[in-house]
Amino acid sequence: MPSAAPMIVTLDGPAGVGKSTLASRLAGELGIAFLDTGAMFRAAAFTLGDGAWDWTQGILQQKLGDFEFTLRGSGKDTELLLNGSPMSADIRTEQVGRWASQLAVVPSVRAYMKMAQIFLGQVTPLVAEGRDMGTVVFPGAAHKFFLDADPEERARRRCGQLTAQGKPADFDAILAAIRERDDLDRNRSIAPLRPAEGAVVVDTTHLNEDQVLAQVLAAVRA
Ligand code: DC
Repeated sequence: MPSAAPMIVTLDGPAGVGKSTLASRLAGELGIAFLDTGAMFRAAAFTLGDGAWDWTQGILQQKLGDFEFTLRGSGKDTELLLNGSPMSADIRTEQVGRWASQLAVVPSVRAYMKMAQIFLGQVTPLVAEGRDMGTVVFPGAAHKFFLDADPEERARRRCGQLTAQGKPADFDAILAAIRERDDLDRNRSIAPLRPAEGAVVVDTTHLNEDQVLAQVLAAVRA
């Protein structure tokens, strides 16, 4: 008899809504790995560089053929590896986020990422977070969530994180970058950001991290 497919929980939502933190904590509670699919797009954008979204589909396909993503560990200790190495902290800048968003509209890039993500979900139970996890990549997931929050609140949170790390934080610039990425991610023709059919929508604008985790965990365990 074939064994059951691994359990998948999907978390989708816009930039800065807190998906990565929630995915890591939820995965810890469930004792499984989490998959930060934004990091996959960021790693591709960082490795291929500025303007890669203008390359031909053929060249992009060929370059992406050299990428292999794997997962190690679980909960907050989950590590996403690219060709056997952990992700560089350099993928986390606003600039690389914007490049990732531009690269993410390219059909061959989306097709490659979807295939790589489905493969990971076939071998490991996952909390998968991104923009199109519930709509496109794992439409049959056991549990689907869509997190949202006002852009101003997301910008405030991002400023708080940067300040806590001793880095400069310009609220207006961060808010403008969040709005720009929302626009790119929600209005693209392939896999636009939107709640999946059957997803539980959680507006986190007035909730703290613990409250969001409690709501999502209760829904998974219900
Ligand atoms: O979640 P993030 O900010 O790290 O994602 C960076 C960009 O990658 C995001 O603006 C759009 C793209 N992305 C995507 O198109 N689909 C995903 N599943 C995850 C990220």
